[in-house]
Amino acid sequence: MPLVNTKKMFEDAYEGKYAVGAFNVDILTQCQAVLEAAEECNSPVILSFSSGSRDFFHPGNIKDILLIAAKDIHIPWAIHLDHGKSFEICKACIDEGFTSVMIDASAYDFEENVRITKEVVEYAHAHGVTVEGELGPCSKKDDPRFKKYTDPEMVFEFVKRTGVDSLAVSMGTCHGLAKFQPNEVPTLQFDLIEEVEKLLPGFPLVLHGSSSIPDEYLNIFNNYGGELKGTKGVPEELLRQVAQTAVCKINIGTDFRVAFVGGLRKSLSEIKDKFEPRNFLVPAREQCKKLVKEKLSNVFQSSGKVINILKEE
Ligand code: G3H
Ligand code: ZN
Repeated sequence: MPLVNTKKMFEDAYEGKYAVGAFNVDILTQCQAVLEAAEECNSPVILSFSSGSRDFFHPGNIKDILLIAAKDIHIPWAIHLDHGKSFEICKACIDEGFTSVMIDASAYDFEENVRITKEVVEYAHAHGVTVEGELGPCSKKDDPRFKKYTDPEMVFEFVKRTGVDSLAVSMGTCHGLAKFQPNEVPTLQFDLIEEVEKLLPGFPLVLHGSSSIPDEYLNIFNNYGGELKGTKGVPEELLRQVAQTAVCKINIGTDFRVAFVGGLRKSLSEIKDKFEPRNFLVPAREQCKKLVKEKLSNVFQSSGKVINILKEE
């Protein structure tokens, strides 16, 4: 059960031209889906907790609970804080055994973002934990800051001054169901990635807002009473391309949530004569597992890569 930080994961992903999947989880059933899918694909994987998910799951004991749950898991996996907004929340997660934290101080000006991120990096590195920063917002489509792409020169300065291990940059995506205007042709800023690659060879970038909202899972959700409308995700073909660049981590929250809740909606609607919670949760877990396996194998191209990581250790 190799619980690891993300350093070696990202080094290998950079060299091997694939990306590590990071999935936003709320409950143990979802963690099992992610870990089992990654184990079956031989892929490294990241369990991402927002501050809210951490509070809900079990602050203080997440690592212990997951170590027990992952006793038969052999692939490298990480416990990551997603969009930590302060030094304090990052410190709390580091103290309780997270192996990776994101400090998202992107709402502040550049200097303040540098100051807070550097403070987190110093504390995290002293505890063997890797740090993801954010420069340039990955915000809602209607946020006026959105689509002000990150400046590669500022990435260089930010990385040098903070010592951060990876960085989320604004390259054309945003969180949630609608990432592009209805008539917009989805694109990502590949030029930006190339510029960063030149300035900082080997440095891992992170793509947020990477859900594709596949019809298969959306239809299950909506066919069983859901009403998700106006969706427009990142096409999988773009993600396949980006996985081969310096982008070493791709975040999936929305797709994973839609798959889980869609699976629940379906089982709640179809199963009329049972009342054990597991009868409803197992189909939802299986649907998540299927989604994760599809992402790891067909999109992020990380399947079969674990052998490389373990061989070198
Ligand atoms: O931090 C989480 C991810 O960036 C979620 O993005 O809404 O496209 O799944 P998503
Ligand atoms: Zn995000």
